Amino acid sequence: MRRRHLVALLLTALALGLLGAGCLDGEEQSATPETVQGTLPTSTGLTEQLPAMKLTGDATAGKQVFETAGCKGCHTLADAGATGTVGPNLDDAKPDKDLVITRVTKGMGAMPPFAGQLTDQQIADVAAYVVQATGGS
Ligand code: HEC
Repeated sequence: MRRRHLVALLLTALALGLLGAGCLDGEEQSATPETVQGTLPTSTGLTEQLPAMKLTGDATAGKQVFETAGCKGCHTLADAGATGTVGPNLDDAKPDKDLVITRVTKGMGAMPPFAGQLTDQQIADVAAYVVQATGGS
């Protein structure tokens, strides 16, 4: 009799244990790579080719653009003495050239597009400057 109780207890414990494990398995399955749809983004997630990407930027001219186009009001960039906090701190973000060109050309969120305001050359220049000033690539 006592033995039977023990077996029943063990079986119950086992069943509960399996149930618990079952729940965990379910959660894990929803996070497996097989369930992720679409393509993986590249390092910056940028695929669109913009005119300024074909030009060679001049970092010296780009510093002038950075200081006069309004970038300083929104971004922190030590080299330009900029302390804006509306957008990301560029010293920390270290954006690559194509990301700067894409954001400056097209804008994003609170950042306005500069496409009609700056020439493609000026956009290439400011990108070269930001990359040089932040030590990015
Ligand atoms: C009105 C404020 C404002 C101005 C002016 C502005 N930006 Fe921005 N910028 C932002 C905001 C906000 C973001 C973040 C956009 C997002 O990711 O949603 C941003 C994003 C960026 C990024 C991408 C940073 C990253 O790591 O994601 C770069 C590079 C950048 N700006 C450069 C510039 C340059 C160069 C200028 C001047 C030509 C400029 N910005 C002018 C607000 C501004």
